[in-house]
Amino acid sequence: MDMSINLFLYLFLSVFTFLLLRATAAAHLRRRKNRLPPGTLGLPFIGETLQLISAYKTENPEPFIDDRVSKYGNIFTTHVFGEPTVFSADPETNRFILQNEGRLFESSYPGSIQNLLGRHSLLLMRGTLHKRMHSLTMSFANSSILKDHLLADIDRLVRLNLDSWTGRVFLMEEAKKITFNLTVKQLMSFDPCEWTENLMKEYMLVIEGFFTIPLPVFSSTYRKAIQARRKVAEALGLVVRERRKEREGGERKNDMLEALFEGDGGVGGGGFSDEEIVDFMLALLVAGYDTTSTIMTLAVKFLTETPHALSHLKEEHVEIRLRKGEVESLRWEDYKSMPFTQCVVNETLRIANIISGVFRRAMTDINIKGYTIPKGWKVFASFRAVHLDHEHFKDARSFDPWRWQSNAGSASSPNVFTPFGGGPRHCPGYELARVELSVFLHHLVTRFSWVPAEPDKLVFFPTTRMLKRYPIIIQRRSLFDPCKE
Ligand code: HEM
Repeated sequence: MDMSINLFLYLFLSVFTFLLLRATAAAHLRRRKNRLPPGTLGLPFIGETLQLISAYKTENPEPFIDDRVSKYGNIFTTHVFGEPTVFSADPETNRFILQNEGRLFESSYPGSIQNLLGRHSLLLMRGTLHKRMHSLTMSFANSSILKDHLLADIDRLVRLNLDSWTGRVFLMEEAKKITFNLTVKQLMSFDPCEWTENLMKEYMLVIEGFFTIPLPVFSSTYRKAIQARRKVAEALGLVVRERRKEREGGERKNDMLEALFEGDGGVGGGGFSDEEIVDFMLALLVAGYDTTSTIMTLAVKFLTETPHALSHLKEEHVEIRLRKGEVESLRWEDYKSMPFTQCVVNETLRIANIISGVFRRAMTDINIKGYTIPKGWKVFASFRAVHLDHEHFKDARSFDPWRWQSNAGSASSPNVFTPFGGGPRHCPGYELARVELSVFLHHLVTRFSWVPAEPDKLVFFPTTRMLKRYPIIIQRRSLFDPCKE
């Protein structure tokens, strides 16, 4: 088919779909005027998408939600990314949405993400298979695995990365290398090498395709992402086949891939197919590495901007390091003796909101707080709105790690702090991410001092990130050799 016919068909279908959705939404609005959450569907076709994107492309996206909350309340209706959507800035409603995953709501990702993740990824799985694979993932990132196994790898890989730092460093890049290498190690026992470096480059292209129009004809970023996904899947597929052969020869490794080989079956039963394993690993890499590397970068940014918090953190780590000597690796007892670091981790998670919330789709008409969310509608449980609400956190928009020293940091119920989500899809990497960030901060503050190399900007769309990858000028320090100070 030639391009212009394609274009015409695409436009026709888009307009048709939009009109249909809008008509349905309007009909719902009319029929249920008293019961739908208040709000507006915005402009024809684009709804309020442009307002949302332009807010989230700045350092202060809060007005998008603040304005609507003050006009309509904590639950409001809008129209974003082509669909009418109910936004919740209410912790109880968020909890209800998360806990009812699979019963009243189901997770819902844009088409581009679905295509690039692959249909067998944990993020897209449903029902009993999801339950089984979620707990298998948990079993590979829980406290006892971290304590006995992963902590040593984390410590070693963080040091290895920091050893190579000189002069000017793009913190976001380095953090990505660390978390990518860690995830690859955890998944398939590979240490950093040329192969992992090439895999990471392809990976970045896949992630860039997540927030594009999922049509290769219109988006070269999406086209490149599809090609990169193919290459990543081929590379991972090769590893899976090699490992199957090694297993036939009786060789076993202690990693996630081994657990998948031993798992009792995918869609068809009788063990997971190579395709299922590849999709699963690919999604785990996506979920684990971008989020954690961003939180590492932002923790450093917030600490740099809050020098008294940085010096308090440094005291804690210098004490640990002086006790252990220059080269000894961190052990679980050390990780457990970092109370202020845990306050910094919580506060960074709260204020950075790497995952600002989750989209779900209503599986049936749902009544909540006197409103009805119609079947098929999207909902967005905004964690960000709750984390930055003064009603739940005093002086909510400033970075204040000390708040976590008392009263669990929050003034109200336990549902208000949900950086890792909740319910059946609660992040299986929640503890792993905390350990990675703590170990990274330990080695950073005991070995370096730094200043920002140039002004940079934090933005939240299409993902949370520093626009210039947070360049810093570093200086090596030694607690044991004052001449290096
Ligand atoms: C600071 C770092 C991280 C943050 C803020 C974070 C946040 C989240 C959130 C909010 C969810 C819930 C998504 C939903 O309900 O739809 C989630 C799910 C998930 N996370 Fe994390 N995560 C982080 C690190 C990690 C790591 C290190 C791993 C590696 C194991 C990981 C693996 C996953 C997976 C596989 C899911 C999907 C779970 C499912 O759908 O059942 N995450 N994460």
